[in-house]
Amino acid sequence: MFPDQASTFAWHVDALYFYLILVSVVFSIPIVAAIVFFGLRYREKEKYATPEEMHGSIMLETTWSIIPFIVSMTIFLGGAIVYYNQFRMPDDGMDVYVVGKQWMWKIQHATGQREINELHVPVGRRVKLTMTTEDVLHDFFVPAFRTKMDVVPGRYTYLWFEATKPGKYHLFCAEYCGLNHSGMGGYIYVMEQRDFDNWLSGNVSGQTPVEQGKDLFENKLGCASCHAGGPQQRGAKLEGIYGHEVKLVGGQTVLADDAYIRESILNPSAQIVEGFQPIMPTFKGQVTEEQLVSLVAYIKSLSGITAATTGGGTGSTAANSAASGNTIDSANTMAPRKAERGRTGQEGSNPNTPGTGTEPTNSNR
Ligand code: CUA
Repeated sequence: MFPDQASTFAWHVDALYFYLILVSVVFSIPIVAAIVFFGLRYREKEKYATPEEMHGSIMLETTWSIIPFIVSMTIFLGGAIVYYNQFRMPDDGMDVYVVGKQWMWKIQHATGQREINELHVPVGRRVKLTMTTEDVLHDFFVPAFRTKMDVVPGRYTYLWFEATKPGKYHLFCAEYCGLNHSGMGGYIYVMEQRDFDNWLSGNVSGQTPVEQGKDLFENKLGCASCHAGGPQQRGAKLEGIYGHEVKLVGGQTVLADDAYIRESILNPSAQIVEGFQPIMPTFKGQVTEEQLVSLVAYIKSLSGITAATTGGGTGSTAANSAASGNTIDSANTMAPRKAERGRTGQEGSNPNTPGTGTEPTNSNR
C-alpha cells in the first residue's frame, strides 16, 4: 500500500501520517458508537416529553477541552518537526541542478554530467537540489523519499534528501503542467558509493556548471568587460559578495543569494548597488535557465563557495568522505548567511571590499 521508505525522513512522514490516522480512528469510532447507543437508549417514547435539565460539569468540560488541545498540539509539533527537517537545507549537500520543462526534467551534476528524467545519486549522502523551470509550474516528487517541492518559474526552490537504500525509485511531476504532465517523470537511481563513482567516471562530464558560468561570463555574454577589476570596471565587483549583505542605492540592503544574483542578471535596474550607475542592460531572453544556474554557480565560486560534489573515481568511501570534508566548509552557504544576518550596515557589506574574513577561503578560481 505504501511506497518504499528510502530516505532518512521517510519514516518521520509515515509516523506522522499513521498518528493522524490513529487520532481519526480513536475519535470517530467512539462518536459513531455513541450516536448509535444514545439513539437507541434515549429514543423518544412519549411525545413532547420534557428532558431533565442539566447544569454542566466542570470536570467533563475541562476534560474535553484539554485532551483535544494536547492531541492537536502534538499534531502541530510533529508536523513542524517534519517540515523543519525537510525544508532546512543541509550545509554539506551534494549539489544537483534541476530545470523543469514541459515535459521533462533536465538535471546537471556539479561535476558536469547531465541527465534527463533520471538522477543518479549515492546512498547515504545528502543531496541538495536547486530547482527552477523554463516554462510553467512543475513539482519534483519522489514518493519513496516522502518529499516534494514546487518548481516555480522565475525563482529557485530547493529540496534535499538522503537516500538510505540502493534502488530505483519513481520520480513524478506532481503539479498539472499541461498535456503530457502525466508522462513527466523518471527514476532516481540510488547507488552504492563505488557504483556511483563508476557511473560518474563513465559519463563524459563536459563543462561543470562553474566552468560554463565562467565561459558565459568572460566570453559569450561579456559580463567581464564591466565586472572585472581594473580601470574598465563599471559594474559592481562580484568577488566575495555571495552570502553577504549588499548596500543598495537608497540605503536598503539585500542578501546576495541565488535569487539576488538571478534577479540582477535579468532585471538589473531593480536593485542598484550603491556607488554604481544603472547602466547594465537586461539579459532577459538571452540566457536560458540552465545558463543562469551556471552563472549563479560561477559567481558563488568567486566567493570561494564551490559546489559540493562527491565521487570522481576514488572508489573508497573513506577517501570520499575525506574529500568531501574539504568541501563542506566551502559549500556551507548557510553559515555565512547566518553570520551575516543582522549585520546590516556594518562595513564589509560593500561588494567592492571582498573577503571580510568570515568567508571560506577555499577558492577554486
Ligand atoms: Cu510538470 Cu506536471
